[in-house]
Amino acid sequence: MAATSLRSRQWWDNPANPDMTALYLERYLNFGLTRAELQSDRPVIGIAQTGNDLVPCNRHHVELAERVRDGIRDAGGIPLEFPVHPLQETGKRPTAALDRNLAYLGLVEVLYGYPLDGVVLTTGCDKTTAACLMAAATVGIPAIVLSGGPMLNGYVDGRRAGSGLIIWQSRRLLAAGKIDYAEFMNRVACSAPSIGHCNTMGTALTMNSIAEALGMSLPGCAAIPAPYRERGQIAYDTGRRAVELVRADVTPAAIMTREAFENAMVVTAAIAGSTNCPIHLIAIARHTGVELTNDDWEAVAGDVPILANCAPAGEYLGEDFHRAGGVPAVMHALADAGRLHTDAMTVNGRTIGDNVRDARSADPDVIAEYDKSFAPRGGFLVLHGNLFRSGMMKMSVVTEELRSRYLTAPAVTWRAVVFDGPEDYHRRIDDPALQIDENCVLVIRNTGPIGYPGSAEVVNMQPPTALILRGVEAIPTLGDGRQSGTADAPSILNASPEAAVGGNLAILRTGDRITLDIPAHRIDVELSDDEIAARWREHTPPELDNQTPWQELFRAHTGQMDTGSCLDFAVGYQDVVHTKGMPRDSH
Ligand code: FES
Ligand code: MG
Repeated sequence: MAATSLRSRQWWDNPANPDMTALYLERYLNFGLTRAELQSDRPVIGIAQTGNDLVPCNRHHVELAERVRDGIRDAGGIPLEFPVHPLQETGKRPTAALDRNLAYLGLVEVLYGYPLDGVVLTTGCDKTTAACLMAAATVGIPAIVLSGGPMLNGYVDGRRAGSGLIIWQSRRLLAAGKIDYAEFMNRVACSAPSIGHCNTMGTALTMNSIAEALGMSLPGCAAIPAPYRERGQIAYDTGRRAVELVRADVTPAAIMTREAFENAMVVTAAIAGSTNCPIHLIAIARHTGVELTNDDWEAVAGDVPILANCAPAGEYLGEDFHRAGGVPAVMHALADAGRLHTDAMTVNGRTIGDNVRDARSADPDVIAEYDKSFAPRGGFLVLHGNLFRSGMMKMSVVTEELRSRYLTAPAVTWRAVVFDGPEDYHRRIDDPALQIDENCVLVIRNTGPIGYPGSAEVVNMQPPTALILRGVEAIPTLGDGRQSGTADAPSILNASPEAAVGGNLAILRTGDRITLDIPAHRIDVELSDDEIAARWREHTPPELDNQTPWQELFRAHTGQMDTGSCLDFAVGYQDVVHTKGMPRDSH
């Protein structure tokens, strides 16, 4: 490629504008870079750094970036590392979901406004992967994903203890008095034995598997545990490859095609992935300019069997998944069964089909061949009805018992017990007056993107203590929030529109009858349209208090989960380095 086409030269080596060149150039010399480097036609590669002390899941990217730099240098590029707004799923109040679009906006502005020819996107914790890919699509410079990898396997009493899942399981033991607080905390600590992101097939490992399935990372990248030797090695290879992507001018839009998104949905189902992923993948697609809907998840991937035996749906954790072959082994099995677009191009310059041709599973207990799957239907059931336009249920975690109750019966009807958010749930769940039993559905509302704000992972509510003591570990739940990808609850969630913006969950009352009809893909409250309209006339919407300026901006512009919870004004910008040209000079 002609050197003059490097974007960074418009800053540092522009013969048509020598005084601006001088102004742009001089400050980048002050920490030791030389004119010879910066004016030598070498691609400048950004390292979008998502790791820091506030994001422990990604913190080791600070060290991995050294290997990325080595790779960039060895391939003839110049690395420039910069921070991404912190996005940590469990530490950020009120939600990390509130900040995904903020990190996205910030990254777009950095990638577009600084002298960068390409970028290595460091990913890991749930929304870091989403925000990075959304931004890369909007900007359109060559980009490659380096995931940080899962933590090592955790163990409690000699048995695998996975991130998140151990909390959901142990809080039932705590409620039943079988363990005390100290033991509860010890079990949780044991599930986090090393650097890295969640080791279950939660949202983090699913999103990084999605990045690989899309073709945006090197093969095998997603599952390598964070402390492993191969993690540093793939960091080096990713840095090298970033330079080559710039030289070949391979943009995100050339990789993230409709076919690539279909591959990602099929892989998500095969690994029994997180219910947060439809939201993020739809957002990435919209910023790329590819149309993708909630219904596509079922149409394309609803019937894909489960090929990865990973918690929370299965037994194993990230380390086992990597040793069995990781995403390439899953894609090998899917390709053999004709379930993938094998000619989709990837960032290593080869097709998915070429990349996974020899990647047979090394352990059939962890990753199965297509005809020896662990269970049918790893995908999501997409539901519609008079409570919301679109919601989802994660079929991979529906137990055999629930499966026979839900799937074989034409319909099942529950009595609703309604909570206005998690505080109300915690206050009243053990109130005997609610008369909660196995025939109830626990409903939570005002927990969506606008109501919460950001949308909270609170739909996987546990039953009242009295029921747990009777041995009832789960009852159906429904809500306009989300749940952790590490949870094993068959909740009906991501309900769109949410109560706060006119969804009918707002007018639901405790005692209402709700019918789930899985063959019809419907869930409805037994109320006539007239009754619903009458309740709306009496309805007083909850007051939405904005605690920060960003909350106000987010609430004014963020869409519902079934369309990716994107900023409405942002989806009109795609591939801006090509569609909008260069930003103006700064002086
Ligand atoms: Fe960050 Fe799970 S909380 S990866
Ligand atoms: Mg989570």
